[in-house]
Amino acid sequence: MQSTRKITEDIVWVGSSDRRLERFENLFPIPRGIAYNAYFIEDEKTVLMDTVDESVARQLYENVDYLLDGRQLDYLVVNHVEPDHCAGITEFLSRFPDMKVVGTAKAIQIIGQFYEADMTERAVAVKEGEELSLGKHTLRFYMAPMVHWPEVMMTYDVTDKTLFSADAFGAFGAFSGSIFNDEIQFERDWLDDARRYYANIVGKYGVQVQNVLKKVALLEVEKICPLHGPIWRSNLDWFIEKYQAWSSYRPEEKGVVLIYGSVYGNTERAVDALAVRLADAGVANLAVYDVSSTHVSELISEIFRCSHVVLASATYNAGMFPPMENLLTDMKALAVKNRKVVLIENGSWALSAGKSMAKELEEMKEMTVLGEMLSLKSVLPRQREEELDQVVDQIVKSLAE
Ligand code: FEO
Repeated sequence: MQSTRKITEDIVWVGSSDRRLERFENLFPIPRGIAYNAYFIEDEKTVLMDTVDESVARQLYENVDYLLDGRQLDYLVVNHVEPDHCAGITEFLSRFPDMKVVGTAKAIQIIGQFYEADMTERAVAVKEGEELSLGKHTLRFYMAPMVHWPEVMMTYDVTDKTLFSADAFGAFGAFSGSIFNDEIQFERDWLDDARRYYANIVGKYGVQVQNVLKKVALLEVEKICPLHGPIWRSNLDWFIEKYQAWSSYRPEEKGVVLIYGSVYGNTERAVDALAVRLADAGVANLAVYDVSSTHVSELISEIFRCSHVVLASATYNAGMFPPMENLLTDMKALAVKNRKVVLIENGSWALSAGKSMAKELEEMKEMTVLGEMLSLKSVLPRQREEELDQVVDQIVKSLAE
């Protein structure tokens, strides 16, 4: 059975959702599932914009068959070759012997690496600004390298002012029938997963995303069609502004995320004591996380959201608590920068977690450590609680800047 939705007169969503997959890229938990978007354009020439993951490919084939209604598929445009969007390539190549595959030269090369398909007579390599006429519609191609692989491009439908944005503007989350941003409560139900998706999948490539945003700013865009998550047909500027913040590593909000790694609960209690004092001081935007029980992708997402980060770690094997080390390694890998950081270390002998955390932060850009590190020996004794007030003062002062 077909399961499609019209986006414009001629553009149809032909994707589907996977609610069974536990981890996206075998890495990121997706309790809300994931949508794989693909798009069909009906014109004098027929076009499929990308395919989907193999888990939902059957639905794509039925959708495309339904829309073709006996016609041939003329073009498969491949904006991104990652296998979650390319499972259908070989199937469409064999079903439609005259179909051409349109993509960047790099995309065509990588398709050949993943799939045994003879593309010699069928690949159309396109470059920046090149156009493809379908009859009524004209497609124009824009290179978007490293958003999120090197072969990526975006396709702009000049006729319908629709941007097929590849991974950019995507989100984790399966659809419940509604696929448009104005059919759902995006800020309430989707924003956290859109931020987590951005920060962890594309976060490292802020410069490249900024380059793409500059190109998008010159286009008249009425709809954004990403490869995952809702399709944007209203309030585009609001979401583009989120991307401006994330890709420039500008904190989305003034707020404090407090992340602790605690073995017996004493580092945890110190962080809780700090959090209530911050609340007493009027800081409203607070979030406390246990680094052991929160997936690192959630923590990265929260660090992209907040201006201030408190990292508190027990000493372990003469270094950081291992999950804290994992977090800092991920922060470095994803090029996190421009945050104000407070460090708290704990250890019953040979304190060294703080030094290890500071060293990692030094290797990141524009990370400012506020004040002196708070060093605990096993617990924070009552007579030292005023040191927490000093930390609160530093954070409050910094938040006001
Ligand atoms: Fe959804 Fe980079 O693939």
